[in-house]
Amino acid sequence: MNDQEKLIRALISREVASLHDVMETVHLADGEVLFHRGDPGDAFYIVESGHVRIYTYDEEGKELTLNTLERGDAFGELALVDSRPRSASVVAVGPATLRRLDRDAFLAKVHSSPALSQAVIQLLGDRARHMISYVEWLGQWTRLVAEGHYDQAMKSLQSSKDVEDDALLAVADAVESMVRVVREREEALRLKVAELRIQIDEEKRRQHVAEITETDYFQELVQHARQMREQRDRNRAEFGQKQIAKEVLMAKIISIHSFRGGTGKSNISANVAVQLALRGKRVGVIDTDIQSPGIHVLFGINEDNIGKALNDYLWGRCKIEEAAHDMSGKVGEGKTGLKPKSIYLIPSSLRAGEIARVLREGYDVGLLNEGFQALIDELGLDYLVIDTHPGLNEETLLSIAISNTLFVVMRPDQQDFQGTAVTVDVARKLEVPDLFLIINKALSSYDFDDLKQHVEEIYDCPVATIIPLSEDVARLASAGIFTLVHPDHKVSRAIAKIVDVVEATR
Ligand SMILES: Nc1ncnc2c1ncn2[C@@H]1O[C@H](COP(=O)(O)OP(=O)(O)OP(=O)(O)O)[C@@H](O)[C@H]1O
Ligand SMILES: [Mg+2]
Repeated sequence: MNDQEKLIRALISREVASLHDVMETVHLADGEVLFHRGDPGDAFYIVESGHVRIYTYDEEGKELTLNTLERGDAFGELALVDSRPRSASVVAVGPATLRRLDRDAFLAKVHSSPALSQAVIQLLGDRARHMISYVEWLGQWTRLVAEGHYDQAMKSLQSSKDVEDDALLAVADAVESMVRVVREREEALRLKVAELRIQIDEEKRRQHVAEITETDYFQELVQHARQMREQRDRNRAEFGQKQIAKEVLMAKIISIHSFRGGTGKSNISANVAVQLALRGKRVGVIDTDIQSPGIHVLFGINEDNIGKALNDYLWGRCKIEEAAHDMSGKVGEGKTGLKPKSIYLIPSSLRAGEIARVLREGYDVGLLNEGFQALIDELGLDYLVIDTHPGLNEETLLSIAISNTLFVVMRPDQQDFQGTAVTVDVARKLEVPDLFLIINKALSSYDFDDLKQHVEEIYDCPVATIIPLSEDVARLASAGIFTLVHPDHKVSRAIAKIVDVVEATR
C-alpha cells in the first residue's frame, strides 16, 4: 500500500467508525479465510486487532500476496461500490478481530457523508492511477522479455521495487519468477539445438580409406603386424618353458592418435603415462611426432636440457635406450613419490636442422619398430605410450599397426568427424586388437551419456572416455602434467578411465 492510499484508508476508517452501533465484530482464528476472490461483496471491514493478508493467485495457481493490513486499516469497499465479486481473498495472519459494516449501511454512510464519499472517490481514483502505472511497468517488462533482453528486464524489475507499493512489489515478484522460468526454458531449448549430431559422407570415407590401404606399403604393414602379433602369442604360449623376460611378453604398446592436430594427444599421452606410473607400472612415453614435437614441454624439457633424442637413434648415433630419460624424479617437482625408472620419456629433437632432415629425407620406419621393441626389452617396460603425429602418414600407420591398444582422439568439431571415421576404418584394416575413441574438449553443457551413445553408433567403436573442455587445462597451458597438479579434477578422472581401459585390455 502506498502512503497516499494509507492516508485515504485511515480517513475512511475514521468516517465509518462513527457507525459503531451498526457494525458487527468478527473474530478470525489464525489462517481463517474471511472471503475468497469471486465471493459476492456484501460488507466493508476495518481491522480492529491483529493482521489480515490480502492475496490472489498467479497463472499457475500460486498465492500472490498483495497486501498485509493492520489495526485501523479498512478494506472491502471496492466490491461494495462497483457491485462486482471480490477481487482478492482475505485471510487472518494470527488471530484477528474485524469490524464489519454491511453493504446498505456503508452506502448510506457514503451518501450522507461528503468526506467519506470524497475519500472513496479519491481511493478509487488513486487506484486507477496505480493501475495505469502497473500497466506501464508490465508493458515495459513484457516488451523486454519478448525481445530476449532478460538482464534489462531484471534491472527494471529491481528498480520498480524502490517504489514503495506492496501491490507493485507482488506483481514485480511474479514477473521476476516468470522471467527466470522463461530464461531457463529457452536455455534448455538452446542446448537441445546445440546437441552434437555427426554426419559422415560414406562415399568420401570409402574413397579415402581405399587411397590409404590399397598401397604396397600398407599391405606389407598388415602382414608385418600380423606376424608380430602371432610371434607375441607364440612367446606367451612358451612363457615358462623358455627364459623369456616377462615384460617383453606382457608389455603393451598404447598409441594415442588423431586425424587432425591439436586434439589433445600430447596432453593425454603424458597424463595417461603418469597415471600408469602412479599405479605402480613401468612406463615409457615416446614422441613420434618428429615433424612437430610437443610432449617434452609437459615434462619440462627444452632445447637446452633435452640430451639425446629419438632422432639420434634413427640416424644411428645412439641406442634407443640412451634417448630414454628417467622422468620419475623430475615430474611434479619430484614430489610424486614415483619409484625411480618408473617413467621414461623419449623425446624428439627440437633442433630445426634435425626436423628439416626428417622432412627432407624421411627415415626408416622399420627402425622405429625395432626401437619400440628394444625400449620395452631394455627398460623392462609394462607399457609404451606413443604420442603420434596427426594424420595417416607412414610412421603413424606403423605406430597404429604395432599397437595393442589404439586410442583415436576426436573433438566434438566438424573438422574431426570425417577424418576420425577414416582413421577408425584404417585401424580396423590394420587389425589393431583394441580400438577406442576418446572425445576431448567436450562442452560441459552436452549430455555426456547421449554424446557417448551417439558417437559409438556413428563410428561403431567404443568411447573410452569423454574429457570436458576445461579452462583449467588451458590455464596450465601444457606447462606441466595436469593429473599431478589437479588429481581430483574431472579432467583427471576422465583420463583415469583411459588408464582403466588400458589395464583391462589384453
Ligand atoms: N580438455 C581440454 N580442455 C582445454 N584445453 C585442452 C584440453 N585438452 C587439450 N587442451 C589444449 O589443447 C591444445 C592442444 O593440446 P595437445 O598439444 O595435447 O594436442 P595435440 O593433439 O598433441 O596437438 P598436435 O597435433 O599439434 O601435436 C593445448 O593448448 C592444450 O592445453
Ligand atoms: Mg602433440
